[in-house]
Parts: sequence; structure tokens; C-alpha cells
Amino acid sequence: MEFSIKSGSPEKQRSACVVVGVYESRKLSVPAEIIDNVSHQFLSDIIRRGDMEGKSGSTLLLHNVPGTLADRVLLVGLGKEKDFREKEYRNAIATAVRTLNETGGFDGTVYLTELNVKKRDAGWRIRHATLVALDTLYRFDQLKSKKEEVRRPLRKLTFCVGRRSELKDAEQALIDGQAIAAGMSLAKDLGNLPSNFCTPSYLAATAKALADEYKMKLDVFERADMEKLGMNTLLSVAKGSHEPPKFIVLQYLNGKKDDKPIVLVGKGITFDTGGISLKPAGEMDEMKYDMGGAASVLGTMKAIAQMQLPLNVIMAVPTTENMPGGGATKPGDIVTSMSGQTVEILNTDAEGRLVLCDALTYVERFEPACVVDVATLTGACVIALGHVASGLFSNNDSLARELLDAGQDASDRAWHMPLWDDYQDQLKSNFADMANIGGRPAGSITAACFLARYTGKYDWAHLDIAGTAWKSGKDKGSTGRPVPLLTHFLMGRAGRA
Ligand code: BES
Ligand code: MN
Ligand code: ZN
Repeated sequence: MEFSIKSGSPEKQRSACVVVGVYESRKLSVPAEIIDNVSHQFLSDIIRRGDMEGKSGSTLLLHNVPGTLADRVLLVGLGKEKDFREKEYRNAIATAVRTLNETGGFDGTVYLTELNVKKRDAGWRIRHATLVALDTLYRFDQLKSKKEEVRRPLRKLTFCVGRRSELKDAEQALIDGQAIAAGMSLAKDLGNLPSNFCTPSYLAATAKALADEYKMKLDVFERADMEKLGMNTLLSVAKGSHEPPKFIVLQYLNGKKDDKPIVLVGKGITFDTGGISLKPAGEMDEMKYDMGGAASVLGTMKAIAQMQLPLNVIMAVPTTENMPGGGATKPGDIVTSMSGQTVEILNTDAEGRLVLCDALTYVERFEPACVVDVATLTGACVIALGHVASGLFSNNDSLARELLDAGQDASDRAWHMPLWDDYQDQLKSNFADMANIGGRPAGSITAACFLARYTGKYDWAHLDIAGTAWKSGKDKGSTGRPVPLLTHFLMGRAGRA
């Protein structure tokens, strides 16, 4: 998709289609009003006849509107003006782009980006329009033998801003939006790819491709390397699988030499059967997205590299399958983690924390400014927060605040959950330093409490994305979250937000 930014009057655009908004109760947005005036009330006549009431999600495509140079004018319903906020704005852009892609024209000139969104400037509006447009047009059809052809696909989008003084910010926002969308698209591809394609080796190859393209430093640790490092909890998860596990460390060093690095850790279970504590069969296919944490940190690395943020960021991904098998770890087995703490594995399905804890110990050596881990960690988090917010846990309140704000800004929200010591008792084991499960109550909190036992040496936050990285049902698939949250967080750290 080709994008550009413009400032100018809607009736003068030589475009296949000009897109303007109409609020509910038939109130025209400013660009719609301009077209209405030059066309001798062509729009208000149609609206008076009841063909477009401005309900959100509705559209009306008009041809040969008098007084305009465009082939078509697309009216997009915006809902009530007083309720028009971020979500409504993003929905309007999505509706416009979907409709443009289905009409005969190859390009569209969108005036919705001039709409007033409370507390948001032109930069925000353009960044989000770009992201939403690319998100809407995303398709995963690489494994279908016959692709669904769009007859005359949209090739070029122009976003308009109301004032010339907004052009500079808008141009930058367009670049940023495209970078974030590229990161999301990578994350979505990885999440959607089934586990017979997306193996630990495939994730390592993806990291290699990023390292080559953006000149990052890459280390991939093999089973033998991990044995030497004492990463036994990670390896205990890999024991039932024939796919070789990997520990991937990718370094983007574009900050000052002695800037402490920000570390991102992503859970990379390329398929979670539960192991010997086997999961039920229903919807087990969805456990191919149990590497959603890894996918989102890889996507974020791509986004920040494309944006060339002046930061040092290190990504660490522990990755393996979780399979049953003759060699698999059994309930009750006790292993010594890289940190020296021993763990009684009471349930082999609580494997995410086992691969993460060794990765969290490993990254101590970077003396990080902070560490953020991202994981499809618990079903309990889906029960607590549904598919709206990611669960956020942290040992540092100001880091938590920063991530919450980034999520708000990115329309990729998280919710702060408690990490109080009171919950630690649930992890007590009779035979080892801790158990890997804490019972049914507060399942997402006890999982975070387990991780907290490995992150005492630095500021740390944990995002449980089990509910947000994936959509079930008819539109089943990967969402690309939380790439927007993480990228906005890093933009903030780079002084760019
Ligand atoms: N990958 C799952 C968590 C999950 C569940 C993600 C549903 C997305 C959707 C994780 O490894 C897991 O199985 N967790 C267990 C933990 C339990 C055994 C303490 C769970 O949530 O049931
Ligand atoms: Mn599991
Ligand atoms: Zn899992």
C-alpha cells in the first residue's frame, strides 16, 4: 500500500474516491459540508431522503457529485458527535478502508483524519489511521492454494490534515504508523502460522532475517549451550518434543554506548499440548499461538528498527514445543532452574513460567534499565480481563504506569493487576523451593508471582496476553497485540511520544 499526506480542499481532489464523515442526526463534518456547498446541497438532499443517517458503521457511495473532481464520494457514518472518541475514530477508518477496497477505484483520499478526536492531535490521528488501514487489509492466505482475489484492490491512500502546519507531524506519524503495522503484521503471521511451520527453528530463522536486514546482533543458543548455562527448567519443557529448542537473543544497539538496555522477553511455546498434563481436545489448535509473546517482541524489534529509535533494546526468546512423550517431564519431577532455585513441576501445562524463568535469569547479565516479559501465560487472565485488556504486573509502579499510558496511547490497553506477596504462599511445595502452580484462585497472579521470584535484581513488568493476542470464533486469528503498546512504550523511552 502506498500512502501520502495532503492538506487541501475536498472538492479539488482528483481521486477515485473522496471519503468524508457524517454524524448521526444527519450532521455533516466540515469537509462534507464543503462538498455540500459546492454541489448545491447534493449531500444534504440525499441525507434528507433518509439514505444516510450517520449511524456508525454505515456507508453510502455516491458517483459524479456535482462540483467535485473525484469520481466518487464515500459518506461514512460516524455515530453521535458527542460520543465520537478514539474507538469510534478507528472504527470509521476501518469502515472506510474496507469499503474503498471493495469499490472499483484504486485510490482513496480520506478526510476522516481531519475529524476532531478529543485530546488527540493530527499526529495521533494519522498514526492510528495508518495502523488501522493496514490492520484492516491484512490477510493470511499463504497456506491456501487458491487466494481470494480482490477484483480492483486499493493501492493508494491519501490522508488529509486540516492545516498546513500539521503536515510535518503527520508525515512522521505516517512513517511511525507503517513501522508499527509492519511489526504487527510480522507478529500476526507468526501467530497464524501453524506449529508444523512455525517451530523454534523457524522463530530463530525469523530473528536471523531481522538481524541481517537491520544489522542487529544475534545469538541462538542450542540445547547443548543451554545445558552448559544450566537452563534446566526451560529444557524440562522441551524433553517431550522432537523439535530442537532454541534460546534466541537479538540485540538492537542504536543508543549511546553506555545507555542501559531495555530487555524484552517473549514466551515462545510454538505448540502447547499441556505435556503429560494433557489439555482437552477442544480448540487445542489455538495453542499454536502460545508463541504470541515471542511474536510480539520480534514484531516490536522490527518496528523500532524500522523507526531507528535511538535506544539499546535486547530481545530474549526461550522457545520450544510442550509435548507429551516417553522422555517428557512428569508431574512431581523437580528441576533446578538457572537461578539455583528448585521447582516441583506439579502440572506440566504450566510450562510458560518454566521457560520464562530461565530467560529472566539469563538477562541479568545485561544490567537492564528494565525488563518487560510478554506471554500467553494463563487461561485465568482471559477469565479476569477477557479479550479487551492485557494483564500487567510489575515490581515497579512507575514502570507499570509507563506501560499503562503507552497502551492507552496505542489503543492497546493493559490493566494493572496486584503482585502482592500474600499470593506467594500458594506456590509452596513440600519437596522443592516452589511449585509451578498455585491452584485455581488468582491463577494469573500466582503465575506472575512465580516469575517475580526470578526478577528481584531489576525493574520488571510482565504482560499476560493470553486474552489479547488472539481472536477466537469466526474471525479466528492473531491480533498483533501488544506490538502497539510495546512500540509506544519504547517511543516514549526514546523521547518520541
Ligand atoms: N498457554 C497456556 C495459557 C493459555 C490458555 C493461553 C488459554 C491462551 C489461552 C498456559 O501454558 C497454560 O496452559 N496455563 C495453565 C496454567 C495452569 C495449569 C496453572 C492454564 O491457564 O490453565
Ligand atoms: Mn500450558
Ligand atoms: Zn502455554
